[in-house]
Amino acid sequence: MDQLQNTNLLYQNADYQNYLNKIKKCEKQRRFCRHNIPHFLSVARIATIKTMEAGLNFSRDLIYTTALLHDIGRFVQYQDKTPHEIASHQLAIPLLETLDFTDDENKLILDAILNHRNPEAQGFSHIFYESDKLSRACFSCPVEHECDWSKEKKNLTIVY
Ligand SMILES: [Fe+2]
Ligand SMILES: [Fe+2]
Repeated sequence: MDQLQNTNLLYQNADYQNYLNKIKKCEKQRRFCRHNIPHFLSVARIATIKTMEAGLNFSRDLIYTTALLHDIGRFVQYQDKTPHEIASHQLAIPLLETLDFTDDENKLILDAILNHRNPEAQGFSHIFYESDKLSRACFSCPVEHECDWSKEKKNLTIVY
């Protein structure tokens, strides 16, 4: 059986692809970090490592699905300034209904999406918050000096 069955089902979902395209259009001229599949997979892989390091047991399918969804509402933020963790959470609810996670797993996924910009997040949400930041290669970014991330947030060396 495909270890990433739900992740791949989500990726193939027509609504999901439509949202990805909307983000791509909004970010066409963006000079800073984009919110695309390479970012989502980078977050997924770092969160997988961090989960193992913490001795926790979340499936890769759950981690990758959360990563694919966490910024999916980014186009809504460009359109009407809704914080994208809220927009992503809203869009994720019906998408998760097409997958076969349990209610408890859906809650973990939705909480992590909603809290991925909250430094006070706990448990899986905290791993996810950290992985999202760590995914950005600030050390090789040509516009790093123009980015408004704090020095503490920026990854100025390779960590993961
Ligand atoms: Fe985000
Ligand atoms: Fe992100």
